[in-house]
Amino acid sequence: MSSGNDGEKIYPQGYEPEITSEATDDNVRNNLLDLILQSGPSEVVDTDLFAVMAKRRSTRKFSDKPVETTKVDKIIAAADTAPTAGNFQGFEIFYIKSPEKKKLLVDACNKQPYVDAPIVLVFCKNPSRVKFDFPEYILKKFAIQDATLAAGYSQLAAQALGLSSIWIGMFDEQKVMDVIGTDLVPSSVLCIGYPEQTKFPKPRRNLKDLVHVTW
Ligand SMILES: Cc1cc2nc3c(=O)[nH]c(=O)nc-3n(C[C@H](O)[C@H](O)[C@H](O)COP(=O)(O)O)c2cc1C
Repeated sequence: MSSGNDGEKIYPQGYEPEITSEATDDNVRNNLLDLILQSGPSEVVDTDLFAVMAKRRSTRKFSDKPVETTKVDKIIAAADTAPTAGNFQGFEIFYIKSPEKKKLLVDACNKQPYVDAPIVLVFCKNPSRVKFDFPEYILKKFAIQDATLAAGYSQLAAQALGLSSIWIGMFDEQKVMDVIGTDLVPSSVLCIGYPEQTKFPKPRRNLKDLVHVTW
């Protein structure tokens, strides 16, 4: 991606956001991000963050209804709002559009058939972006946290937009890397679409068993 100063697009080839930015000022780095986040409030189904959290359920059956570009934009933009270690953004998103590659990803993800979803995003760790003068293992630790948090933000954004998702953590790293053509290690695959049915929240353990108060 380019900043736009040299006339190049500020989004990747093959993915054009619904809203595009004419910004050419490098200092307005988040111009497009801000435009996307502010756009089309009618597209947002639920703006109550806690309701979004409470209602989110994993979906493994998606309807064929295509996901609007404006919603994809917001899901990706949401990832870009997540905090990252040192703001170095130690992660990358691979937006898989090719049906053939989605099928290969099903295989790479332990043959989980729902990976062939309307929207498939692979979140990868990119520790080389994390420019702290720390040992490599710390940079890797930051990168996995960056990538995971970003995917979590996207997952909640999808829910807020009336979509549903399944987080895939069970995959063969090397196979996924071969399919998407990168040497970056994936941390999660997020599959998104309209759910065939809505479900009730799953039970969780009691709060008293979850929280350990330490004085
Ligand atoms: C780290 C992680 C890895 C997961 N991996 C998979 C997976 O490979 N396949 C799958 O079907 N679900 C996977 N899930 C989804 C969980 O099974 C699901 O979130 C959990 O059962 C709770 O259900 P809920 O999301 O509907 O609340 C994963 C979730 C997380 C957070």
